[in-house]
Amino acid sequence: MYYIGKGKAEELAVLVITTHADLVIFDDELSPAQQRNLERLLKTKVIDRTWLILDIFASRAASKEGKIQVELAQLCYLLPRLVGKGTALSRLGGGIGTRGPGETKLEVDRRRIRRRISILRKELEEIAKRRGLQRSNRKKSGLPLVSIVGYTNAGKSTLFNALTDSEVFVEDKLFATLDPTIRRCYLPSGDFMLLADTVGFIRKLPHDLIAAFRATLEEATYSDLLLHVVDASHPGKDDHLEAVEEVLRTLGIADRPVITVLNKIDLIPGKLDRERILLEHPGAIPVSAETREGLDELLKTISMMLKDCNLYISKETAKDLHVTTWEDSRKQN
Ligand code: GTP
Repeated sequence: MYYIGKGKAEELAVLVITTHADLVIFDDELSPAQQRNLERLLKTKVIDRTWLILDIFASRAASKEGKIQVELAQLCYLLPRLVGKGTALSRLGGGIGTRGPGETKLEVDRRRIRRRISILRKELEEIAKRRGLQRSNRKKSGLPLVSIVGYTNAGKSTLFNALTDSEVFVEDKLFATLDPTIRRCYLPSGDFMLLADTVGFIRKLPHDLIAAFRATLEEATYSDLLLHVVDASHPGKDDHLEAVEEVLRTLGIADRPVITVLNKIDLIPGKLDRERILLEHPGAIPVSAETREGLDELLKTISMMLKDCNLYISKETAKDLHVTTWEDSRKQN
C-alpha cells in the first residue's frame, strides 16, 4: 500500500513534520497507488527514482530528439498516475466517487496526453529513420564504430573530447550527455575509427528509460568495440561496473569486445593503490582523460583490438570517404 510498511510510513510522516520536508524522494520505482497513498499520508509531494531521473534528463536534454525522448518518457510515466493528480491537473475535480466536471476534465487530459504521445512517437520514428540512413552510410564507409559507455559522471565526455580534440559538453553533473554524438578519430597507426559518446548509465535504470534512451544507446548496440569507462577513484566503482554490465546485457551486447578504461587515475597518486586497482581489473587501461595520462596506451590498444577483429581501415581508403556523422546531420537540420 505504501511500498514500505505502515509503521515505517507513519515514522516517515513524523520525520516529514519535524524536518519541515516539502518533498520525499524514494530511491525505487513506486506504483501510482503507492505514490498516491504516500502523498495522502505524508501530506507532501512524493516522487520516485524514475521521476527524479526524468527531471534531471529534462534539464539536460539539448537536442530536439533528446527533448522529445524526455517528454515522451514523462508523459508515459504520468498517464497511469493522472487519477491521483486529479486536483493538480483538473482544478474542477470533485470529491472521491463523484462523476462531475473533474472526471470529464481528467478524460480530456488523458486523451490529450495520448494524442501527444502518438505525435512524439511518430516524430521519433522519423528521426530514427534518418539515423538509420546515416548508419548505413557509415557502414558502407567501412569505418569501425567504437562507443564509449559507462556509469554517469565516469568521464565519458571528457575522454571523448580528449580523443577527438573536440568540445562536447562536460560538467560535474549526472547525465550531462543525453544526445548521441559521433566523431571521426585518428589512431596513431594511421587508422581511423568513429567514436560515439553515449548517455550515462545508472544503477537500477528504470526500464522505461532504457526504451526512451535507446537512441543514444543504439550507437552502442551497433558498435564494433566498446570502451567501458570507469571512475577508478570512486568508492562505488565495482557497483558501477556491475550496473553498466547489466544494462549491456539488457541491450544484448554484453558479449561485444570491450576495453575497460580506468579513468581519473590522476586522483589515485599512490603507486600501491594503482597497482591494487590494476590487479583487480586485469587487462584494463588506466588513464586520465583530464591530464591525458595513458591515452596513447589506450589508442594503441584500440588499434590492436580493431585489427584483431579485422576492422582495420587504411588512411588512404578513409581519406576518400565522406562519412556523415550525427553531428554533421544535426548541423544540416
Ligand atoms: P554523464 O554525461 O553525466 O554520463 O557524465 P560523463 O561520464 O560524460 O562525465 P564527464 O566527462 O562529464 O565528467 C564528469 C566529471 O569528471 C567532470 O567534472 C570532469 O571534469 C571530471 N573528470 C573527467 N575525467 C577526469 C579525469 O581523468 N580526472 C579527473 N580528476 N577528473 C575527471
